[in-house]
Amino acid sequence: MQLRDRVAIVTGAGQGIGAAVARAFAREGAKVAVVDLDAERAQGVAQAIVAQGGDATALACNVASRSDVDAMVAAVAARHGRVDVLVNNAGIVRAAMLEKMAQAQWDEVLAVHLTGSFHCLQAVAPGMIARRYGRIVNVTSAAGVLGTIGQINYSAAKAGILGLTKSAARELAQHGITVNAIAPGAATPMTEKIRTDPRFKDRYLERIPMGRWADPDEIAPVFVFFASDAAAFVTGQVLAADGGMTM
Ligand SMILES: NC(=O)c1ccc[n+]([C@@H]2O[C@H](COP(=O)([O-])OP(=O)(O)OC[C@H]3O[C@@H](n4cnc5c(N)ncnc54)[C@H](O)[C@@H]3O)[C@@H](O)[C@H]2O)c1
Repeated sequence: MQLRDRVAIVTGAGQGIGAAVARAFAREGAKVAVVDLDAERAQGVAQAIVAQGGDATALACNVASRSDVDAMVAAVAARHGRVDVLVNNAGIVRAAMLEKMAQAQWDEVLAVHLTGSFHCLQAVAPGMIARRYGRIVNVTSAAGVLGTIGQINYSAAKAGILGLTKSAARELAQHGITVNAIAPGAATPMTEKIRTDPRFKDRYLERIPMGRWADPDEIAPVFVFFASDAAAFVTGQVLAADGGMTM
C-alpha cells in the first residue's frame, strides 16, 4: 500500500475524477476526507469506500468559501490529528464566448478553481510545515496550458493554478512538502457535453492522440503517485494524463 495511514483531503470528490481519486487513495490505505459542495454525492462516495473496507468520511464544503474550508480542514484534523495529502480537484465550467461572458461566470470559475485551491492550500500548510511533511496535488487542464475557445475564465483559472503550484512548490520545498499538478482528461459529468454533443464530440476526440476518453479510474493512479513516497523528490511539476492532448 502506497498511502498507508496517510490522511488525505480530496475536494470535488463527489463524482468524476475526484471520486476515482478518493477510491484509489482508500485502496492504497489512506484515510480519505471526501469533500464536495454536494453533501449527498460526497456521502455516497464515502459510503461506497467504507463498504469496500476503506476509511472515508464525507464533508460538505464550498471551497470558494474561506470559512467553509477552515471548518472542513479543522474537522479532518480533529478526527485524524493531521492532514498529509491535499488534492485540489473541485471544479466547475461556465462556458461562454468572450463577448458573451457574464461577470458572474468569470467570478464563479475563478473563485472555485483558483481561489478555492488557494484557500485549501493555505489552510493545510501550517500543519504540514509543523510536521515537515506534505503532499499537495493541484488539478490544472490542457485549457490552462494551451488555451481553449469559449472558456476564457476556465483557462485563466487553470493557468493560474500552474503559477500557484510552482510558487507554492518553491516556498514549501524547504519544509518537506511537495506541490505538483495534474492536467487530466477523462469521461466525467463535466465533459459529458463535449463527448456527446454532435457539434463538439468529433472535434474534441480528434485532439486526443489515443483516440478515446479515459475512465477516471485510469487517471487516479497518477494522483496516487504524486501523493506517495515514490514522488518524494518531485515538486513543481505538471503531468498531463490526457491521452497525449498536451505534449
Ligand atoms: N474531466 C476532464 O476531462 C478534465 C480535464 C481537465 C481538467 N479537469 C479538472 O479535473 C477536476 C475534476 O473534474 P471532473 O471532470 O471530475 O468534474 P465533475 O464536474 O464531474 O466533478 C466536479 C466535482 O466538484 C464539485 N464541486 C464543484 N464546485 C465545488 C465547490 N465550490 N466546492 C466543492 N466542490 C465543488 C462538484 O459538486 C463535483 O462533484 C476539475 O478541476 C476539472 O476542471 C477535468
